[in-house]
Amino acid sequence: MAAPARFAQTLNMPARISAGNLTSDLDLKHEELLSLLDLTAKLKRSPARYAKSLTGRYISLLFEKPSLRTRLTFELAIKQLGGDAVVSMGIIGDREPLKDIARNLDRWTQAIVARTFSQKTIDDLATWASVPVINALSDMYHPCQALADMFTLQERFGDLRGRKLTFIGDGNNVAHSLMLCAVRLGMNFALAHPKGYEANPDILRKTEALAADSGAELIVTNDPAEAVHNADAIYTDVWTSMGQEDQSAQRIAEFTPYQVNEKLVAQANPHAAFMHCLPAKRGEEVTDAVIESPNSVVFDQAENRLHAQKAILSMLLS
Ligand code: CP
Ligand code: NVA
Repeated sequence: MAAPARFAQTLNMPARISAGNLTSDLDLKHEELLSLLDLTAKLKRSPARYAKSLTGRYISLLFEKPSLRTRLTFELAIKQLGGDAVVSMGIIGDREPLKDIARNLDRWTQAIVARTFSQKTIDDLATWASVPVINALSDMYHPCQALADMFTLQERFGDLRGRKLTFIGDGNNVAHSLMLCAVRLGMNFALAHPKGYEANPDILRKTEALAADSGAELIVTNDPAEAVHNADAIYTDVWTSMGQEDQSAQRIAEFTPYQVNEKLVAQANPHAAFMHCLPAKRGEEVTDAVIESPNSVVFDQAENRLHAQKAILSMLLS
């Protein structure tokens, strides 16, 4: 495995991610997050320079849930870096113990990318596998999405310190990863959710601690108008995440006042970007007019998943 290390030196790549995994955003130190953003920019600017950094490497992609963007951008990222991917669909641990699966995969492949229902499945894979594990979305976090989103915001605003990102909707996996990354970078973060759909209290406490370090402000409210005041970007996500389909009718009723529509957007800065991880349910969490508006960056976010995940793979495997 000397070739990728030599590549890392030649290309002046940043050091590895010290945790050895990306199980959540909390695995990244501040300087590692900055290095990932910097490497994402380089990979986007000069993809050909990095075309061989994963030569001879194979990556396992495990999916318990559906995916368009994450699966295809990981497959493309791995192939464009000179490696190859193998894919397995289905619930991890249904047919045999997870600890056995992890110790099969690490004999064949050099990293594991997993989309799971439970964060515990990601953490257990990282415990048992001797190769890096990357969280491709769990019930708690979506760190690959948040990295691409921070990069998208940097492309639009440059330095994020003092800017304000507002998330309207469920205190879910996407919101958790966004709040951790945003405040770490000194970006103010506002979350507006209906009562009963709070963010995880432990993640909120960790976000508060990171905000205290960076000087960022964290606002949590039930009032969407308060949250979007002075926002530089407004983000939303589906009201019903994968695995919650049986709650859909109740969620639609409770989240309707939290729709991101023209009236709400008009209360933010006129330049405020509209963001969504996709897939979107137009007419529910966002109107067609807002997602199709000139300030919408949803397809930049989707494109940047590719570049950001190349950076994650490069830093974990170099
Ligand atoms: N945003 C995102 O993760 O999309 P997929 O569910 O299609 O992977
Ligand atoms: N919160 C959504 C994100 C999809 C990318 C879900 O978990 O289904």
